[in-house]
Amino acid sequence: MPASSHHVPAKRAPRAPKQAPPRVAPDTGSLQDVRNAAHDCRACPLWANATQTVFGDGPDHAPVMLVGEQPGDQEDRQGHPFVGPAGQLLDRALAEAGIARDDIYVTNAVKHFKWEPRGKRRLHKKPGDAEIAACHQWLERELELVAPLLVVAMGATAARALLGKATPVEANRGRVMPYLAEMQLLVTVHPSYLLRVPDDARAQAYARFVQDLRLAAAFAKPKR
Ligand code: URA
Repeated sequence: MPASSHHVPAKRAPRAPKQAPPRVAPDTGSLQDVRNAAHDCRACPLWANATQTVFGDGPDHAPVMLVGEQPGDQEDRQGHPFVGPAGQLLDRALAEAGIARDDIYVTNAVKHFKWEPRGKRRLHKKPGDAEIAACHQWLERELELVAPLLVVAMGATAARALLGKATPVEANRGRVMPYLAEMQLLVTVHPSYLLRVPDDARAQAYARFVQDLRLAAAFAKPKR
């Protein structure tokens, strides 16, 4: 029999577990320990279609923590928050408000990219309450360990995650309010919103965002 006609049993790939055990945030250890644990998070199904967990970035004891919604396409590929188009707009607004991005901690309410295919593109899908709740453990540990003086909720998803209830952005933006034991909270719009505002309203919407961030500038000098 010619060699080619031999039936060679296909090498069977090791069977992947249907769902790996959920990972929970360790309640001790450093920020890096928590970041490492989040790497394997299976607390909700979003990990399955994402490239990687996108944890927060910035100094361990930053005085200001910015919280967005969830990583986008670029963040999912690069593994860092706010590095895509919304991140570029955020960087510009921070600079105009007098805040050095390197001095602050930037993270998201949800740490995996939720998307749906649209042709060849991966279209952003808003995370739901269950995903926000499943991911809250990581945000909570970031808040405890970084212990910022000011937390900035950018957009409705971040405000919901931080306040535990639906919180309208327009009615609450632009003022610093008490938050948790020793923090303050500022609500503002999400930078992606500014990318979608009609041309004739964009300059004004952007100026209001910078004005909100100026309130954060007062807190943003390195504290330790
Ligand atoms: N939008 C977010 O909410 N977070 C990111 O990291 C990028 C875009």
